[in-house]
Amino acid sequence: MRGLIPDSFIDELLARVDIVDVIERRVPLKKAGREWTACCPFHNERSPSFYVSPAKQFFHCFGCGAHGSALKFLMDYERLEFPDAVEELAQTVGLKVPREGGREAAPREDKTDLYALLDAAASWYEDELPRNADAQAYCKKRGLDAETIKRFRLGWAPAGYDGVIKSLGNSERRMQLLNEAGMVASSERGSKYDRFRERLMFPILDRRGRVIAFGGRILEKSGEGSPVLDPRAQDTRKSDGPKYLNSPETPLFHKGRELFALWQVKQANANLPRIVVVEGYMDVIALHQAGLPIAVATLGTATTPEHTEVLFRAAPDVVFCFDGDRAGRAAAWKALESALPRLRDGRQAYFLFLPDGEDPDSLVRKEGRAGFEQRIKQAMPLSDYFFSELSHDVEMSSLDGRARLAERARPLIAKLPDGAFRDLMAQELEKRSGARAMLQADPAAHRAVQRPVAVQRSLVRSAISLLLAQPGLADLVEKPYRFLRLDKPGVELLAELLDIARSRPGINSAMLVEHFAERPEYPSLQKLMAALSVGEPEIQRLEFVSALERMEHQSLIQRRNSLSARRDQLSDDEKAELRTLLPLREQMSAKS
Ligand code: UTP
Ligand code: MN
Repeated sequence: MRGLIPDSFIDELLARVDIVDVIERRVPLKKAGREWTACCPFHNERSPSFYVSPAKQFFHCFGCGAHGSALKFLMDYERLEFPDAVEELAQTVGLKVPREGGREAAPREDKTDLYALLDAAASWYEDELPRNADAQAYCKKRGLDAETIKRFRLGWAPAGYDGVIKSLGNSERRMQLLNEAGMVASSERGSKYDRFRERLMFPILDRRGRVIAFGGRILEKSGEGSPVLDPRAQDTRKSDGPKYLNSPETPLFHKGRELFALWQVKQANANLPRIVVVEGYMDVIALHQAGLPIAVATLGTATTPEHTEVLFRAAPDVVFCFDGDRAGRAAAWKALESALPRLRDGRQAYFLFLPDGEDPDSLVRKEGRAGFEQRIKQAMPLSDYFFSELSHDVEMSSLDGRARLAERARPLIAKLPDGAFRDLMAQELEKRSGARAMLQADPAAHRAVQRPVAVQRSLVRSAISLLLAQPGLADLVEKPYRFLRLDKPGVELLAELLDIARSRPGINSAMLVEHFAERPEYPSLQKLMAALSVGEPEIQRLEFVSALERMEHQSLIQRRNSLSARRDQLSDDEKAELRTLLPLREQMSAKS
């Protein structure tokens, strides 16, 4: 089966997905140093011995020995066959699985009826949109073009209490699913009716592009809307409910985790240096339509730490965009607090405050893409926003005021993960407050990860496992490989691994191992990769170089021994060679 999916695709796939993301969605992970940990999903345990390494893109359980790549995890956890696991993983990053022979894989059927039902509902709303003149006029007034409507699968929930029920709920089972999916509400007397009526429908997709919920916007009464809408205007027609009605929490939909349009953002950008978080559906859509498909929105909730983690996994720079009013400022501070614990080195948060009365939708229409991009570029770094917000009501020229600043800032800075950024913030606080920022370090963050002692391994094995840990080491080795003359098991395999790693710069550990998925060496490669205790990359580099040198040395010793065994029958060349080899010591002197 595997032969049908090209190796290069598996490479690309494993390069695109983040194993932490794949596992985290199924097993909640906790940060432990450079890795993530959890109680192992493959055996029963009380304390976590399951580790996920973002650097190696590999998981390993020290308890039961389960280990592998993101693909392997999916196969084991979801009990999928290899091609299905590839399919599933590919969908998460919006890749189509190519098949040898050019035939694309038939789209896999949705795993649960719930997804299928929500998808059918979205299609039904989509079909209704062209049939309703008011909805059409409203889309036009908001400047939505046909391409955008299609890309976001916008639709119309018609009037009446049983449109969805009639078209989708035609059996008891399906009614039950409609209920589970949050598509129907119950009256006090227990009768069911459509939750969404006379609303412009915004499907909410998960990270695989599947519909999991909806938001529905009421239309203004005819003649009441102005071209620039007051973003916070509450609709006054009580009976119509809120301006935006969202699906309730369901087994598929958790507001605190999902971001509107994250899927569209991932579709539009193979590489995403920056992601922008705005407040509303229409803001996201306007930005995408204006040529900035880098915007997502929280769904009528404050930014949660889970959102923040999802955002930073999507892009290293996250720009939080808020209205400049009081409510916007409060929301921004909440976002800052949720970002602090996630700000490990390499991640940066920015804050963008908009002028009063504007939202991203109104602004990008006025100023165009370039204008809004300019604003994004000028967004305030988190550190600036942090200190200006904390000191805005303290008298910085007084000792008291500065002490107050220090008092407020310290517990927040302590929430930052260990790293250069935290040190900088502490220094900055010291500079501003004149007080030593004695940070209460989080002891858990410092607790060393417990690991079994690395097993004693032969040279070849250790070279292989070092290479697996850091495939970039292959660049240190020149062809022809001089260690190849060494007559030891594994030498050929090492050469093959080196060839692959050299031909694919940037390959990661899991990708490298995955090249051997159908080979008898696969299990031992996985074990080797898992067995290596993590070390400093620099030390690993030295160990690798030394292992290769010692292999080469051993191969020369082997050669000398075989030449001297047939001393009497040597050719002149061989005699000369032997003479050069005689001074070799049995043990290579250890380099310090
Ligand atoms: P806004 O009221 O700022 O609306 O709500 P908006 O996004 O600018 O929408 P338009 O331009 O008037 O159409 C921001 C976000 O807050 C959530 C929605 O997610 C909305 O997009 N919200 C707002 C609700 O969930 N319910 C509401 O009643 C209002
Ligand atoms: Mn708006």
